[in-house]
Amino acid sequence: MKHIFSNSQIIRVQQTASTNCHLLQLSETENLHEGAVLVTDNQTHGRGVAGNSWESEPGANLCFSVILYPVSVKASRQFFLSKAIALAVYDFLSYFVPAGVSVKWPNDVYVDDRKITGILIENFVGGDYLTKTIAGIGVNINQERFLGNAPNPVSLRQITGKTYSLDSCLKALHAHIANRYRMITKDERQLNLDYLQHLYRFGKPGRYFADGVIFDATITGVNHYGMFELKTTNGKNRIYGFKEIKFL
Ligand code: BTN
Repeated sequence: MKHIFSNSQIIRVQQTASTNCHLLQLSETENLHEGAVLVTDNQTHGRGVAGNSWESEPGANLCFSVILYPVSVKASRQFFLSKAIALAVYDFLSYFVPAGVSVKWPNDVYVDDRKITGILIENFVGGDYLTKTIAGIGVNINQERFLGNAPNPVSLRQITGKTYSLDSCLKALHAHIANRYRMITKDERQLNLDYLQHLYRFGKPGRYFADGVIFDATITGVNHYGMFELKTTNGKNRIYGFKEIKFL
């Protein structure tokens, strides 16, 4: 399938500390086309959000980063990058897993109540606009056992019982990223609708922890700044930024 990133470089390295760091470094000296990917079989110091680490068995999973130049996107609207990447992963996975895939705010991808994908978006800003984005994606594909301390990991193989070609998975996911990325400028409305439609626990009551209190609430939306909006069971509207609230 031809898409807007069809001519972008795919750089393969056998081992690297973190594909995000490696691709960022390369981008400082090389002319990388938009959509260029750096992928590895063995990421030794995978980085997660908020200083967490990301563990992935060598050769078993997709571990890569993609470079974007979203120069027409205002820095204040950078959450659209998270939405687009998370939805691309959703699109890719829901082909293999017809039910139960969702995006957990802000940008994890889950199957039922287990995490199958972690995403680390690093945005660079010049003035009011974004200049460059390094989107790092770790999708658990063929791993059979998780030995680290991630709370609830799952792989595609654990769900379907099949093994997958990592090359074909990368190709398919890359095409979905191109499509969802294009929507940021061409079809923002649909991107927002799809994000809410596939959002984990959207519209369903759930239990949360914030400001030292446990409470029950229903997700009502996610605003343009990426903040999480809820209505508590006693009718109060609440809004939270990343790391201010925990799902229980
Ligand atoms: C998270 O869930 O905390 C985000 C994890 C992101 C992991 C991916 S794997 C490829 C890319 N390189 C990194 O160092 N991290 C991201």
